[in-house]
Amino acid sequence: MGFKKKQLAVIGDPITHSLSPLIQNAAIEKLKIPITYKAIRVPSERLKEFVRTQARKLVGFNVTVPHKRAILPYLNSLSQEAKIIGAVNTVLNKNGKLFGFNTDGTGYLKSLHETAHFDPRGKNIVVLGAGGAARGIATVLALSRAKSITLANRTLSRAREVVRDLKIHFKHVKWYSTVLFKEKFKKSLKQAHLLINTTSIGLKGTAFENFPFNHLKTQCLVSDIVYHPRMTPFLKQAKRLSHPIHTGEGMLVYQGALALELWTGCQPDIRLMKKVLLEALKKR
Ligand code: ATR
Repeated sequence: MGFKKKQLAVIGDPITHSLSPLIQNAAIEKLKIPITYKAIRVPSERLKEFVRTQARKLVGFNVTVPHKRAILPYLNSLSQEAKIIGAVNTVLNKNGKLFGFNTDGTGYLKSLHETAHFDPRGKNIVVLGAGGAARGIATVLALSRAKSITLANRTLSRAREVVRDLKIHFKHVKWYSTVLFKEKFKKSLKQAHLLINTTSIGLKGTAFENFPFNHLKTQCLVSDIVYHPRMTPFLKQAKRLSHPIHTGEGMLVYQGALALELWTGCQPDIRLMKKVLLEALKKR
């Protein structure tokens, strides 16, 4: 009888562009564990069927667009972060029970700690954007006891909605919502210890027009979750103005590393994962 390796996966639609199989398999190979990781395309209309059948044969799986929220009703239990964020990117199959986690936010936080040596406790933080990524990051920053969190978005109603939802869970944080580039926004920049871009600006080299960097203190850490290009125009400008910067590939690497740790109990080689990711991005 042939030996069958255990299986991990990432599900989404589309999924061919996912870099997770590459970085996960590099880490798995180094750990010498009998497991493989593959991409599975699951269209929305087949998600329910996937959870009922294929998912049960996996040790665990990552979840990406468009299923991060849609998968919630099919899971047996959720981690604290996943519950508050309302989205899951990692599922662990434990004796047929499916446990949902969100390692996107915690991955970001870990990257911030490890590569920028930044601790959010007691800090004033400005988050650009109000989508799923902003919600995940604001949640973990609140869990890390940030002093104030400002959600600044092009569409004010979306920023307000995130603040309204998170306020309920984190009363110790001072929450603000504002429109990008208005006076209130500039005021929040003046106090900021950390400024994070979670919008899609920066993808394909796009840039903010006239970002008011002059309101930021020089020591404010400037962070971007866009990882392709790694040095977004936003980060390039911040660097030119002598701000410390934090690049986006760390979040992808650490969310993957935390997921692999949940599934296997092993600590993967972060440097190796980062190396293969950066090499792959260079070729894109
Ligand atoms: P994700 O779940 O990855 O965070 P999303 O929900 O599509 O993605 O959110 C994208 C974010 O980028 C939003 O905050 C969006 O602003 P709006 O809510 O106003 O749409 C922001 N964004 C995208 N393009 C933008 C642009 N050209 N200028 C400013 N913000 C932009």
